[in-house]
Formats: sequence, C-alpha cells, structure tokens
Amino acid sequence: MRRERQQGWIAARGRPLRGELTVPGDKSVSHRAIMLASLADGASRIEGFLEGEDARATEAIFRQLGVRIETPAPGVRVVHGVGLDGLQPSTQPLDCGNAGTAMRLLSGLLAGQGFDSVLVGDASLSQRPMRRVTEPLARMGARIETGADGRPPLMIHANKDLQAVEFNSKIASAQVKSALLLAGLYANGETVVREPQPTRDYSERMLAAFGWPVVFSPGIARLSGGHRLRATDVSVPADFSSAAFFLVAASLVPGSELCLRRVGMNPRRTGLLRVLRAMGADIVEAHADEQGGEPVADLRVRHAPLRGIAVPREHVADMIDEFPVLFVAAACAEGVTTVSGASELRVKESDRIATVAGGLRTLGVRVDETPDGAVIHGGRLRGGAVGSHGDHRVAMAFAVAAQCAADAVTIGDVANVATSFPGFDTLARSAGFGLEAVET
Ligand code: S3P
Repeated sequence: MRRERQQGWIAARGRPLRGELTVPGDKSVSHRAIMLASLADGASRIEGFLEGEDARATEAIFRQLGVRIETPAPGVRVVHGVGLDGLQPSTQPLDCGNAGTAMRLLSGLLAGQGFDSVLVGDASLSQRPMRRVTEPLARMGARIETGADGRPPLMIHANKDLQAVEFNSKIASAQVKSALLLAGLYANGETVVREPQPTRDYSERMLAAFGWPVVFSPGIARLSGGHRLRATDVSVPADFSSAAFFLVAASLVPGSELCLRRVGMNPRRTGLLRVLRAMGADIVEAHADEQGGEPVADLRVRHAPLRGIAVPREHVADMIDEFPVLFVAAACAEGVTTVSGASELRVKESDRIATVAGGLRTLGVRVDETPDGAVIHGGRLRGGAVGSHGDHRVAMAFAVAAQCAADAVTIGDVANVATSFPGFDTLARSAGFGLEAVET
C-alpha cells in the first residue's frame, strides 16, 4: 500500500548552542487577543502575534464571523471590533484546525450568540474530549451537540438567554475556565469558576485590560454579564513554551550558553523553570520587565549536568505543555525522574505520556508509564526512528533529545510544528542544533 510522504527531520548532535534568540509570540495570548479585540468596541492593534497555524485559525474564524482584521506587517494585526453583539453568522463550519484552545474557548463565546455555529477540527482535534466544556456550558443553558463520544464537531445553537453559574471544576484547565468566562460575558448574573489548581490567567488579565470588570486570584475567577469591551492595544510576549525547548537543549549540550530574549514569565507558565533548577540547571533571569501587562525577562541558560527528581505535583499545571521536553531532560539526567498527577497529558494533541515514552524507549531509555505520569530512568540515548504522532511539542522534544543521542534520530510527521512554532528548525539550526528537513 502506498503511504503519503510526510515532512520529517533528521536530527543529530550539533554544535554547543550559542547566541541570542527571540522565540515567537505566545499562542494562548494570541488566541485571546483576536477573540477579545473582535468583540470590543473600536480598533485594537496586536503586536507580537504568533504567525502559527493555531492562532491563524482563530483569526480566520473571526473573519468568517464578519470581523475586519488587517495585517500591516508580519506579527501585527489591527482588529476592527464589532462589539459584543456584532458577530455575523457563518454559513460554513468554523475550522479550528489543530487548536484545542480555539475550539474550547469558542464553544463558550459562541454559546450566547443569536445564531448557530458549527466548530470542526483536524484529525487530532477531532479525537479530543469536549464534554469538559459542553457539560458546564449546558448548565448555563447553552445548547451544544457534540459528535460521537463527546468529541468534535460541535453544533452550537443560538441562545440569547444564558444564565450564570458557579462552577467548581474538577479539571485544572484554563480552556474550561475561559470557555465559561467567555459565555459569562453574555449571561445574566455572576459566573464564578473555581479550579482544583490555579491555571494560566490570560483570559482574566486580558478581559480586565479590555475594561471588563473581573475579579480573580489563583484558583478562582468571577465576572458578571452586561458590560462592554473597550478596544485596546495588546503586546504579546514570547512564548515560554517555545523557549522551553532551548532551555532544555542548552542545559544538556556541553559548552552551551544561550540568551532567550523577553520571554513571557507569567508564573502559571514557568513551572518548568522551577523544575529544571531543582534538577541542577543554570538559568538566570535578567532585565525583568512588563510587556502588555505580562511579566517578561531575558533568560540566560548555560550547560549544567542535570539530576533526576520527583516533580512536585503543585508544579504540574504550571508546566502542562512542557512535559514532552521535561521527559527528554529526565532521559538525559543522572538518576530517576518521577512524574505524577499529570493525567491531562493523555488528552493533549497526542497522548503525550505514551508518545514520548514510546519514542524514548526506541532511543534506549527505560521509561515506566503510569496512568498519570511516568518514571524515567536517565541514561545514554542512542539513535533511531521516532514518530511525533502529529504532535508539535513531541516533534520538537525529540529534536532536543537528538542533540544528546549517540547517533542520528529520524523524527516523522513534523508538519504540525507550524501550529505553535513556525521557523523552529531554522532558529534551532542557527543556535547550533543538528537538524535537517527530510521526507519520511
Ligand atoms: C491553554 C491551556 C492548556 C494548554 C494549552 C493552551 C490555553 O490546556 O495545554 O496548550 O490557552 O488556555 P488545558 O486547559 O486543556 O490544560
């Protein structure tokens, strides 16, 4: 049987990693900036917008819903907001591509509109659970049908009469929290969301920046319907999750010293920094500043030998997107690293416990999986062929692993790296990675 050729990489040890790098804009912030600017009164300018497929999918959806969005330069958007009730129905399904954030946040935002919408996604997104948003939204009166087993597509029916709820979430998920808050903009009364662990608070911070009264502290957020969003300019910081690949790679490769410029340092995102430091990493913050209401800093990372640790559970939500590369750091560290309390990894763009553990085993690492984590036995990596399972962060994590492997690592199916980190391969090569594009 003929198989379609896929974009892949051959990655191998390169040079020590050196220089100054700026990674692209934050994905979570880019999605939210387009959404809130679209619903605001007036024009908002977004700078540092992530030119990745996920954020562009959200942008294309709002164009489809009648919002005029200009691109005066790469990474810049001017969004002509239509006001809270100004979106127009689309006759076509709204395609979220690979973006779980787009689909889950839009399910809340569209639930209180006066028109129906259909949300669809790519093969990976179509396998991801949506009841975590549709069930609490139904309590607000939202009428959303899902595909089989609570998966996409989502058929959202018009409802101009949502009622606020108090929701105690069992899952630590910023997407669930944000879906309810966005529905809450359209609801009668006060919407309250409590979380089992605090998650990223970009929706809350950005709603406040757009002038919506919102009260929040780690683990709780509340807002009432009936206000307006005022256009404002947004400056998107560099994505900590993209910087993470370089933090780990430079820690692992002897002789490395990299400076990552103006990285977003929201504490709900920087759990990996705390864990890498506990493993012995040499990462120094400098030039702490604020950008668009978010803390940013330059991060200087030098090679340092890493030791395995038990990852404290309280850091898990603050590093939820960094586990693929943390597994790689653990595989190259001395001793054993234990991860637990991270069952959410099983429902990301791939089952990240299974996909990363499987690939690391191919490279000769002993990894024992558990339902909510893994035990990773640090050692030497050999070469081999691994799959990314269409998961951008898994692909990039294995490119990092290859910088420490004895022989070349072939990584299949890397096209989805463009969802979060367009230009990763070029930037990585310029820093010293051994990395070539191939067809696999
Ligand atoms: C995100 C929240 C997280 C994260 C995702 C982006 C967001 O998902 O994994 O990459 O922008 O709100 P969960 O809410 O499912 O944990």
